[in-house]
Amino acid sequence: MTPQIVLRPAAPEEIPALLALWARAAKGTSITDDEAGVAALLARDPECLIVAAAADDPGTPLGTPLGTVIAGWDGWRCHLYRLAVDPAHRRQGIGAALLAAAEQRFTALGGRRADAMVLDENAVGHRTWQAAGYHPEPQWSRWVKPLADG
Ligand SMILES: CC(C)(COP(=O)(O)OP(=O)(O)OC[C@H]1O[C@@H](n2cnc3c(N)ncnc32)[C@H](O)[C@@H]1OP(=O)(O)O)[C@@H](O)C(=O)NCCC(=O)NCCS
Repeated sequence: MTPQIVLRPAAPEEIPALLALWARAAKGTSITDDEAGVAALLARDPECLIVAAAADDPGTPLGTPLGTVIAGWDGWRCHLYRLAVDPAHRRQGIGAALLAAAEQRFTALGGRRADAMVLDENAVGHRTWQAAGYHPEPQWSRWVKPLADG
């Protein structure tokens, strides 16, 4: 059965539940996948972590989180991270709804183009991004330098 969902910004008190969701639903891990990392994100931009939560869950006031996306706007570019939907609730339009909400946020903030890092081997991810209108730019690679141990 497709659950009724609400899309809303993440609340600091649900950070452990979101980390648990990412552990079972997200593809790959992020260097900031811990309580301090997510708390810093929400302190910097309280609206950027969008949660799809079950609307009809009286047991939890916030509703059980079923999916997330981070719609990161730094004043210059629009970056999408941590698009993930609970494996038990996939192919119900939640991922597409999260991306639509993220794009709405970017547009309202003046963003002109959204981007995401997608693992080359993530075929389901490719289909999802493609269905939402994204395409790869093969001329780029990701260049990184760790700034802290760990
Ligand atoms: C990618 C992910 C977020 C998609 O979430 P979802 O809620 O299942 O996606 P939706 O139901 O909104 O699907 C939207 C469209 O994407 C495409 N799509 C999504 N999953 C697909 C699959 N398994 N096979 C083929 N197409 C798929 C379809 O076109 C789909 O539309 P349709 O169902 O009308 O055919 C989910 O599979 C997931 O959490 N995967 C693991 C994490 C991940 O890979 N995230 C992306 C990181 S870059």
